[in-house]
Amino acid sequence: MYRTHTCGELRSTHIQQTVTLAGWVQTVRKFGAITFVDLRDRYGITQLLIGEELNILLDQNPLGREFVIQATGMVSERSNKNPNMPTGDIEIAVQNFTILNKSAVPPFTIQDDTDGGDDLRMKYRYLDLRRNTLKKNMELRYAVNRAARNYLHQKQFIDIETPFLIKSTPEGARDFVVPSRMNPGEFYALPQSPQTFKQLLMVSGYDRYYQVVKCFRDEDLRADRQPEFTQIDCEMAFIQQDDILEMFEGMIKSIFKEVRNIDYTEPVERMSWEDAMWTYGIDKPDIRFGMKLANLKFPAHAFLNKESAFKEDMFSIPALGGGGAETILAIAVPGCSEYSRKQTDELTEWVKRPQIGMKGLVFIKCNADGTYKSTVDKFYNPEIIKSIADAAGAEKGDLVLILAGAEERTRKAMSDLRLEMGKKLGLRKENEFKLLWVLDFPLFEYDEEGNRWVARHHPFTSPKPSDIETMINHDPQIANAAEYLKHPYANIKANAYDMVLNGNEIGGGSIRIFQRDLQEKMFAALGMSKEEQQHKFGFLLGAFEYGAPPHGGIAFGFDRLCAILGGSEGIRDFIAFPKNNSGRDVMLDAPSSIDETQLKELQIKLNLQ
Ligand code: AMO
Repeated sequence: MYRTHTCGELRSTHIQQTVTLAGWVQTVRKFGAITFVDLRDRYGITQLLIGEELNILLDQNPLGREFVIQATGMVSERSNKNPNMPTGDIEIAVQNFTILNKSAVPPFTIQDDTDGGDDLRMKYRYLDLRRNTLKKNMELRYAVNRAARNYLHQKQFIDIETPFLIKSTPEGARDFVVPSRMNPGEFYALPQSPQTFKQLLMVSGYDRYYQVVKCFRDEDLRADRQPEFTQIDCEMAFIQQDDILEMFEGMIKSIFKEVRNIDYTEPVERMSWEDAMWTYGIDKPDIRFGMKLANLKFPAHAFLNKESAFKEDMFSIPALGGGGAETILAIAVPGCSEYSRKQTDELTEWVKRPQIGMKGLVFIKCNADGTYKSTVDKFYNPEIIKSIADAAGAEKGDLVLILAGAEERTRKAMSDLRLEMGKKLGLRKENEFKLLWVLDFPLFEYDEEGNRWVARHHPFTSPKPSDIETMINHDPQIANAAEYLKHPYANIKANAYDMVLNGNEIGGGSIRIFQRDLQEKMFAALGMSKEEQQHKFGFLLGAFEYGAPPHGGIAFGFDRLCAILGGSEGIRDFIAFPKNNSGRDVMLDAPSSIDETQLKELQIKLNLQ
């Protein structure tokens, strides 16, 4: 037997017992004739006391960090207790110990605050995973997995695996492909999600399906994106949108309760995509704080209809880069009217960075005494400045920030600025969780490059019933690219929904098309010929002829959910073996070249440019 107890288990109630522990040497501290060793395993750390006699052995065979040892001894009361450690009341008076395996000096310290940089930690991921921080993340991940499975099991969902070697079902990203040796010149694609399979399972009658499943997407990576990631993928038949929203709100709430002991009792707020875009500038707003966007160009405020209107003339102000702004947005930042010149200059620089891309920022300070001070004082009389501040919803003591420019860019910039100010003011609290459903997404998105429509979610998402006519009766052709917004397709809404948690999209899904003719119409709208439809999705169209039930579903980004519940927005440290930002596994050194024989078997000749 290697051990009688773990390193996290012993307390003063064990004093006088003889125990055997096994684990890794965290630290060795020598004090004259005695040595203290902190022994670590997955469960904790226990102090070993190696007395005079055994110390001689240590002189011959010194212990190093990360050595694997086994030690037997008596649990004793510590003279110098450590209240910060669960095992801090005791230590083991070692009677004998064995070195089970030596360790090379680790490339970084295996502690909460490690001295290892990102690359080094990724290269030696197996050592990084010994650290408490990562261990906690892995435990949290498992807890989320368990809670989701328990909930879904209780609700009669059944876990069915779907294949990884499939035919390409594009969902917006590029596919990873796998050459087939047995079918030379042909390739499998790795699934971007099990989308079509779960729909086929509905046709097969498994009306509640789920899977915690790997998905593969060859896309540019960010902190919250990995080329292979995990979804909690779900589908239901004979349901409507509300059934899905309720079911999965329930799932997330039950995960909150199980994993973080959070009672999220209030109903999850619902907001249309349109509202999200105009009130927060983004389709995944962080609603932990207000600071909503005010639209100064088309507001509901009467002052704009007056002669003195705050219209395009204002935006000929050099600070905003000239006139004719398509969109003018403002936020009122609470309590910041006393920002110094340095602080406002910093904000201006911030919005001018290429990532944000604005030409300038206008400020109105709403002083505590009811007066206003703004960077555009010389262009406007005080009443107009006041009406702008009022339109932004500002109160005494607030700082109004105004951006102007092209619609999309200005909304995005204002959303970024709002989040930045929220962060500065501590309004994005780590331990507060706010869920939100964003509904009624547009069905199509315009692809400038191809001058065509692409599915915003994926091609299996159904249009709102009231928009089906528009879809059927209009030619998808876009005659004038500059005026694509005037095409009737631009206004078609989808039966699609996203779940947003603290400003992160943690899940998305839709009610699906389940009739062959509508599915064909959808493919055609996306510019797919009959032949192409048959080649790519013949299996699905065929299945829809054999009694496909109405159905819909959702998939949650499992890694993202874990990261947010663990207080982080980066998903890497919630994945045991992640890839770096260039999609490399630096530990394995993958991807890598393969040898000639493998290429020969696959009948592939490389033609690298
Ligand atoms: P979607 O593409 O929106 O939907 O993906 C669902 C959720 O998966 C997460 N996610 C990712 N997480 C990490 N790395 C990535 N590269 C990545 N891409 C997506 C997000 C996202 O909300 N088949 C549909 C679901 C459906 O319609 O039922 C789908 O995959 O949190």
